[in-house]
Amino acid sequence: MRIARIEMNVMAPLAGRTTPAPAPTAQAPAYDRFGATYQDWTESDSPYRAIELYSFLTAVGDVDGLRVLDLATGEGRIARLLARRGAAALLGTDLSPEMVRRAQAQQDTDGIGTDRLRFAVLDATDPHFALPVQVDLVTAMYLLPYAATEAALQAMFALAERNLRPGGRLVAYTASPDYDFRRPDPRLRSHCGFDYRAAEGNRVELVIAGQHVDVWQWDRDTHARALEAAGLSELRWHPLRCPPQRPGLAAEMAFYLSDPSCIVLSACKPD
Ligand SMILES: C[S@@+](CC[C@H](N)C(=O)[O-])C[C@H]1O[C@@H](n2cnc3c(N)ncnc32)[C@H](O)[C@@H]1O
Repeated sequence: MRIARIEMNVMAPLAGRTTPAPAPTAQAPAYDRFGATYQDWTESDSPYRAIELYSFLTAVGDVDGLRVLDLATGEGRIARLLARRGAAALLGTDLSPEMVRRAQAQQDTDGIGTDRLRFAVLDATDPHFALPVQVDLVTAMYLLPYAATEAALQAMFALAERNLRPGGRLVAYTASPDYDFRRPDPRLRSHCGFDYRAAEGNRVELVIAGQHVDVWQWDRDTHARALEAAGLSELRWHPLRCPPQRPGLAAEMAFYLSDPSCIVLSACKPD
């Protein structure tokens, strides 16, 4: 998927937007409210964080020279990481203006120029959003669980498809279709920094940084159906993995690795 380095200033934030900036929804105020504590969690060095990042980055692979759209970027940690790994041009987007403000503030201190990395507010279910130049890679870390309906899940996949070049990839880190959220392991809080409370149907309350946030679990068939309807193919599920440079982590996190609540998904836009 390697491409030649490209002009970087073409990924103007929200160029191609045909709808106004999203009105706040139930989720945006949630992250607007607890951005600071969420950022503390992302910056913590928990055993889970090492597995989460290693698994995701392994599935993403080499990003040198790539154009990337990072959906649900939060305070931008994944976008900054991919920039440091050589991505040529990145746009990080999030529904929450407060998270985007935090991402921009971090960028000021990180020294990654706005000619290479920008952030903007965007609802990832926007049915019209289209960048002027399609990207090689769409990343979405913890976006898909915020799809409250199958239609919203399909809209997220459709936005990814619309903005990917033919042959481009989507890599998402999401709630595992196989996990039993009604029986969360009691070690989640200490080892992962979050916990779950099952609600009705496929809704789950994520308890993180002292806050309760609604997320939704989707089964494998629903993912496959929504992806296909959006025009994406080659659905793959990537099991979580331990970084080899952290000896001892596999034993410490054996309970989680044998029954993980999260998983990595990838798909391609056909050539
Ligand atoms: C758990 S945070 C993940 C942030 C970042 N990807 C990370 O891994 O640190 C989830 C983010 O999803 C965003 N989000 C929720 N629904 C969204 C939507 N429909 N469109 C875009 N972002 C959304 C929230 O505002 C929040 O910043």
